[in-house]
Amino acid sequence: MACSAFVFDAYGTLFDVHSAVARHAGLVGPSAARVSEIWRLKQLEYSWTRSGMNRYRDFWALTGEALDFALTVVPDANPSARDKLLAAYETLDCFAEVPGVLRRLKDRGAKLAILSNGSPGMLRSAVDSAGIGELLDDIFSVDDVGVFKTSPKTYAMVTGAYNIAPGEISFQSSNRWDVAGATAFGFDCRWINRTGQPDEYGDLRPVAMFKDLNGLLD
Ligand code: LAC
Repeated sequence: MACSAFVFDAYGTLFDVHSAVARHAGLVGPSAARVSEIWRLKQLEYSWTRSGMNRYRDFWALTGEALDFALTVVPDANPSARDKLLAAYETLDCFAEVPGVLRRLKDRGAKLAILSNGSPGMLRSAVDSAGIGELLDDIFSVDDVGVFKTSPKTYAMVTGAYNIAPGEISFQSSNRWDVAGATAFGFDCRWINRTGQPDEYGDLRPVAMFKDLNGLLD
């Protein structure tokens, strides 16, 4: 295997961001899926705008603000679901193949890590509830550099810690914009295109695209 360090995005790649609303869909109301989509989109928008403005606020705070917006803008959403949804976000489901794939890569001797916008507390909680903590060598949170992806400072956390060149890192993300940022930095990127999205960022292409993480084992 060419790469000995596999680094994973967290939200959408390892953890299903829509599992929080799915658990409480009845409480949220008939437009629960729309609430979940807007929650995620606003969470990401806030990360990009705050990075551009140099006004960092941690991802847990942005997650709460994004949920407030989603529960307000969707007319039939039930705002009293807020606390349950936020609690569920701390224990999101991981995708079914995640523990098995991480175990196989680990058994092959690879170093495994997360690099995420998530704040340390929310990442620790999600990792522990998914039971994958013992498989991970490191959890890199952008909180340590005070700016979100796609700033090069975030990807440089990994090369700095491991003292290796960007091209020696295999980086996996389901977020095409994250793949673009990591490719621009020099990582060897796999796009985990779980939902069959069309390609974008044509000048910043991944080396491979898989529908889930099992593609890493081939
Ligand atoms: C992350 C988000 C962006 O985990 O998915 O970094």
